[in-house]
Amino acid sequence: MRRTRVLDALQSAAAMDAILVKGWVRTRRDSKGLSFLEINDGSCLKNLQVIVEESSAAYAHLALVSTGAAVEILGSLIPSPGKGQRWEVKATNVTLLGAADPQTYPLQKKGHTDEFLRDIGHLRPRTNKYGALFRIRSESAFAVHQFFRKRGFYYVHTPIITGADCEGAGEMFAVTTLADFRKEHPEAFHDDFFGKKAYLTVSGQLEAELFACALGSVYTFGPTFRAENSNTPRHAAEFWMIEPEVAFADLEDNMDLGEAFVKHLVTHVMEHCAEDLELFARFVDKELMRRLDVIARETYVRLPYTEAVELLQRSGQAFEFPVAYGTDLQTEHERYLTEKHFQKPVIVYNYPKEIKAFYMRVNDDGRTVAAMDLLVPRVGELIGGSQREERLDVLAQRIQDVHLAPEAYEWYLDTRRFGTVPHAGFGLGFERFLMMVTGVTNIRDVIPFPRTPKHLPPEG
Ligand code: 4AD
Ligand code: MG
Repeated sequence: MRRTRVLDALQSAAAMDAILVKGWVRTRRDSKGLSFLEINDGSCLKNLQVIVEESSAAYAHLALVSTGAAVEILGSLIPSPGKGQRWEVKATNVTLLGAADPQTYPLQKKGHTDEFLRDIGHLRPRTNKYGALFRIRSESAFAVHQFFRKRGFYYVHTPIITGADCEGAGEMFAVTTLADFRKEHPEAFHDDFFGKKAYLTVSGQLEAELFACALGSVYTFGPTFRAENSNTPRHAAEFWMIEPEVAFADLEDNMDLGEAFVKHLVTHVMEHCAEDLELFARFVDKELMRRLDVIARETYVRLPYTEAVELLQRSGQAFEFPVAYGTDLQTEHERYLTEKHFQKPVIVYNYPKEIKAFYMRVNDDGRTVAAMDLLVPRVGELIGGSQREERLDVLAQRIQDVHLAPEAYEWYLDTRRFGTVPHAGFGLGFERFLMMVTGVTNIRDVIPFPRTPKHLPPEG
């Protein structure tokens, strides 16, 4: 007999004479003559109630059935007289698959803090909140592929180990088999695995550009690594990024794509994860559904950087970091724009070229580049992107100006040398999206295995 998932049992159209359910016990309650088990198998937030009557043969097998234990239940699916559930299972047999010692199993019925659960990260997917979170994460990843597939984009696997520094910021993890990498004798790299310096990628963009200039519209979706030592609730050393790259597209096309993408993801989660989302709306962020509605439906503000700076300066807000033309916007500024002033997502564009990466297209004013950041309430920057500099001479000059080694970018410059076209793209931080869509305020709580400065747990 095949097992029925709890989700399918709860949604069953009819009673079933025989049903096999497997899962973990969330709670057990005994009253006279009866034992009530709440079973969860991860297929949905709700538990399936199982009734074991004292008179049944199953009752004898309940000795070690406690919270956290894994069990197999054989029985019948019958209408439930209880509130909030259509069906329950009347057990004819209970098999203990794996016990969980009540003295040491850390997840007892009470609610636990996020901090406590972070310390037992290997067990937290078994809680309601993290089960819901990681189902939403899985469904969101599916929605990413669905969005691009419908629009004729190809999925490109860009490398995780790379010799190039995409963002030019140098915040990269080295990949080495040398025992003492830190010595940095120039010759030492000849003996290393690749015979040169190698890193974990900070972005798949440059490689995605090669493919956009061949397949037209492409995207990458993979792990990304940054060794920035910023211990903020929005930065992880390992995170997932989605990077579309589109040939024959300009900055406006890029903004349109970013806005449509975010709307698609939010709408998809609202439609397909309604029950899980409800948990976050009730217990994490009371304003969540109202805000998601705005993000899914309303037109986003598009604001040149210069106007954003003026608006912030006129705001009368006491910011920790003062705002001045030529400085990057801080999270507090981004949140003021999206939460207080406009109360919806804002796309800031045309940043001064000094604060943006070398590959962004220089505007006709010579001072700004065709960059865009899509900012959202609570999170700040969700997307960073730009139209790319497609003019060979301008790009080569920019590489020199920012002191990158030109010979390392010859392969990249070839796209401009041979059949160059206007093109544009962006990166969306997948964890930032999950923070926005659930209201969770710490990035450590939306990624299964968080990696942050001074934090690399033994598990996973
Ligand atoms: O703005 P970023 O640095 O842009 C790029 O990497 C471009 N190469 C993307 C492109 O144009 N193809 O990063 C893009 C997004 C940010 O907006 C943010 O959402 C996320 O990636 N991000 C991080 N998320 C978590 N932890 C970190 N340390 C992050 N750094 C960036
Ligand atoms: Mg950015």
